[in-house]
Amino acid sequence: MKNKTLLIGISGGTGSGKSTVTKKLVELIKEENVAVIEEDSYYKDQSNISFEERVKTNYDHPFAFDNKLLIEHLKDLKSGKSIEKPLYDFELHNRKKETLLVEAKEVVILEGILILSEEEIRALLDIKVFVDTDSDVRIIRRILRDIKERGRSLDSVIYQYMKTVRPAHLQFIEPSKKYADIIIPEGGYNDVAIDLIYQKIKSIIE
Ligand code: ADP
Ligand code: C5P
Ligand code: MG
Repeated sequence: MKNKTLLIGISGGTGSGKSTVTKKLVELIKEENVAVIEEDSYYKDQSNISFEERVKTNYDHPFAFDNKLLIEHLKDLKSGKSIEKPLYDFELHNRKKETLLVEAKEVVILEGILILSEEEIRALLDIKVFVDTDSDVRIIRRILRDIKERGRSLDSVIYQYMKTVRPAHLQFIEPSKKYADIIIPEGGYNDVAIDLIYQKIKSIIE
């Protein structure tokens, strides 16, 4: 192995399959060789406002994230230092009290909706991936997932999508696709694309 951390960014719209692609890459690379950083973990702490107010936050705008801490942690991992990763609770719309110790590994995967739209984050990434899935498919996936896993109602997912998710996607996420080195169509079950990225990772770290 070369004495350098490989930082891979996986971006794409909500419901595109970023988290699923990441999970499959981790299985291939093997958990002991890879650290995963979810951009979601770096939503700003909102303990100072009520649940009713937190529901109304725009979670798709760059302002929602604590990018200073995220960038600091990415630099730490790249230089071999471990970090205390914040954890996020989608049901409470807030950071959890506990953090998770993440040790530096030869491969670090950063996944999230806005990582390619931030110049300072882009500059740290060795491989930039954009998971590209049509918006009708993404909203259907999101409705099913958010009701099942994030404690949401159908009405709330649709309202949020029209009010903040879709406008931010068009303003920030879709235009950031041009910065990607690789574009994966359809996401989580594109085994050929996932294997190609894995082969590239293997060729660099071995
Ligand atoms: P993201 O992290 O980009 O929002 P996820 O990986 O959470 O997306 O995927 C959203 C939902 O769609 C999840 O429930 C996941 O299991 C499902 N999913 C992901 N990829 C596919 C695919 N290629 N076909 C069908 N369902 C998928
Ligand atoms: O996994 P995914 O890319 O869907 O995660 C990002 C999405 O999570 C954003 O589109 C944002 O609207 C949503 N989110 C939410 N509630 C929060 C935090 C994020 O619906 N409290
Ligand atoms: Mg996700």
